[in-house]
Amino acid sequence: MLAAEPSSELGAALAAARRQSDSLFALLDPAALYERAVAERHRFIFYLGHLEAFDWNLCRTHLGLAAPAAELDRLFAFGIDPDQSCPDALPCDRAADWPALETVQQYRQQRRELFERHLPALPAQLLHVAIEHRLMHAETLCYLLHWLPFSAKRALCPPQADARPAPPATPVAIPAGPATLGRRDGFGWDNEFHEHTLQVPAFAIDKYKVTNGQYLRFVQAGGPAPLFWRRDEAGSGFLLRCMFGEIPLPLSWPVYATHEQACAYAQWAGRALPTEAQFHRAAFGTPPDPAGTAAGERAYPWGEEPSPPPAAGNFDFQHWDPLPVDATPGGDSAFGVAQLVGNGWEWTQTRFAPFAGFAPFPFYPGYSANFFDGEHFVIKGASARTARCLLRRSFRNWFRPGYRYAYAGFRCVDR
Ligand SMILES: [Fe+2]
Repeated sequence: MLAAEPSSELGAALAAARRQSDSLFALLDPAALYERAVAERHRFIFYLGHLEAFDWNLCRTHLGLAAPAAELDRLFAFGIDPDQSCPDALPCDRAADWPALETVQQYRQQRRELFERHLPALPAQLLHVAIEHRLMHAETLCYLLHWLPFSAKRALCPPQADARPAPPATPVAIPAGPATLGRRDGFGWDNEFHEHTLQVPAFAIDKYKVTNGQYLRFVQAGGPAPLFWRRDEAGSGFLLRCMFGEIPLPLSWPVYATHEQACAYAQWAGRALPTEAQFHRAAFGTPPDPAGTAAGERAYPWGEEPSPPPAAGNFDFQHWDPLPVDATPGGDSAFGVAQLVGNGWEWTQTRFAPFAGFAPFPFYPGYSANFFDGEHFVIKGASARTARCLLRRSFRNWFRPGYRYAYAGFRCVDR
């Protein structure tokens, strides 16, 4: 059950989420709104309408309402159906297939006003869904914005070269103990329920995420370079593509890599990726105290505080790009493992699957269930562009092993 939350508080959170998503679209040159930055994804114009269509579709279904321009509700819920002639099942709609910007802006405004009018009648759960759906898109929109030409977006924060050395790789011994996955109450998405505790045997995990410097040695030994790297003109090194420019590869920053690349690296290094339960144990477990009180667990790596100081981690839109892997020691877990939440999601070796007792939300049945196909892997933690409310322990994210665009890296455990 959700605790009673005044709709005014959730209304304020929704307004803040709208400011966040609006600011991303405002980065774009208006002509770029009709661009598709990543072949597998929609043009930006879809997302511009989608955030309002999603909220309004939730609201009108729950309250049994109707509104004019319902065809736009459908268009911005699903996009343009792929044509049979589209190659490789990729979307192949043209920019000219979409409504004019003025029409889309009018639609957005109308739907926002309608939603606001009915907001007090909506249950807290639907408001949380609207807020978090928008904030999740605020992150995945960045994955798309990342690949637009730099000239098509306002350079808010050009990256600075960072020559800080990477800290030495250090394994941390995690004693056997409990890892509680899932949640019992409060707001969470369907896949976060139900809470259950696993006993995890002792293991050793890297204190830091795998850095660009470590991954570079793998590439020099013949491993695949990540999408975010580009050979420099001299061919002697790599540049890193950041949101607003390229810089020489910063060796102390975490590498962004696919699950396939992470597995290949781990195999090359004689290591493995952690399971979802090992990640939980390293991030949220606590050692027994000197008095012998049994080991426990905490809500966040840094303790119980849902709003830690910004220095505790690189998350909640503070930065556009990563920081060195040892830059935020205030967010270390009780076992001394760094940046388990923030500065880049982390791949696990766990396939995304329902917890026992899973039930989909009736108003959004496909949110998780469409991805329980054994072809997606759980990522945990958070990136620089993950909203604060999504830092909770039970939140799970997932991608296909070859998905190249996520702000996701990894760390290894001993085999
Ligand atoms: Fe969506």
